[in-house]
Amino acid sequence: MKLIRTGAEWNPLWLNHLRNNQQIGLVPTMGALHDGHLDLVAKSRSTCDVTLVSIFVNPTQFNNPEDFQKYPKTLDLDLEKLTQAGVDYVFLPSVEEMYPAPTQLKFYFGDLEHVLEGKFRPGHFNGVGIVVSKLFHLIRPHVSFFGQKDLQQVAIIKRLVADLSFDLKLEVIPTRREVDGLAMSSRNLRLSPQERLTALLLFSSLEKAKTELLNGKSWFEIQVEIRSGFENEPFAQLEYLELIHPDSFETYTVFDSIQKSSICVAAFIGAVRLIDNMPIIS
Ligand code: PAJ
Repeated sequence: MKLIRTGAEWNPLWLNHLRNNQQIGLVPTMGALHDGHLDLVAKSRSTCDVTLVSIFVNPTQFNNPEDFQKYPKTLDLDLEKLTQAGVDYVFLPSVEEMYPAPTQLKFYFGDLEHVLEGKFRPGHFNGVGIVVSKLFHLIRPHVSFFGQKDLQQVAIIKRLVADLSFDLKLEVIPTRREVDGLAMSSRNLRLSPQERLTALLLFSSLEKAKTELLNGKSWFEIQVEIRSGFENEPFAQLEYLELIHPDSFETYTVFDSIQKSSICVAAFIGAVRLIDNMPIIS
């Protein structure tokens, strides 16, 4: 496994793979890798000839300075996991490599900016749009892999690829969960044992909501019930629980079994903000 720190280092390697007719898979990450990330890596390994994983904690996508400062960093362990997984390249750019000058660029993703993560994390998707565009330009992959765990990020990146005509394919990988159902997330490392137990409320709420929706209970009633479940938990604070269309992120007030839908949830567990989602009708 080769470590690369600059686009200039990658260019001759890229050219060589291109000449050999090899398909390049990119897995963008911010490190603190878990089995969810490794599922993306495994998919790239099984479908592409060459797999490059990027690790870059992107400052421009953090709307909360404490979240940025406390973002877990486990580089040695990450590199061990990636070696084990048979990755070919790890791209570890510096902030200066990615942002030679402070960027003034502003993306606007329309309606996607005004709901859920767009609404609660102002500026977040602008930073994601910028860094993912830069990675696509620097690495020029044939395929890039993203997790369904960050469903709205997937919608943003699909729009980015279409709007800017990036010549690559996107692959979306299902959410990997712990045995008890908690969605794997780098931020789980910041939970105390007590908070780790409370964090299960996100998954259990999604499961309960799904069962009740499919049994015909009204979405309004379900929301009220789940809100009160969160209010009874001293460590938990619900930010949103919404029923949405998974591409447009239009929010529904009434469930319709003909339309595609997913439920999305975000909550603080102590000081750690977690998100999760569950497809209802795909
Ligand atoms: P990060 O949170 O490190 O996630 C990297 C990729 O792994 C994302 O596509 C994310 O959706 C996916 N992922 C995270 N948890 C997962 C899980 N439990 N199961 C399956 N996939 C999972 O998302 C980012 O980084 C950044 O925003 C990034 C795209 C790298 C841009 O900076």
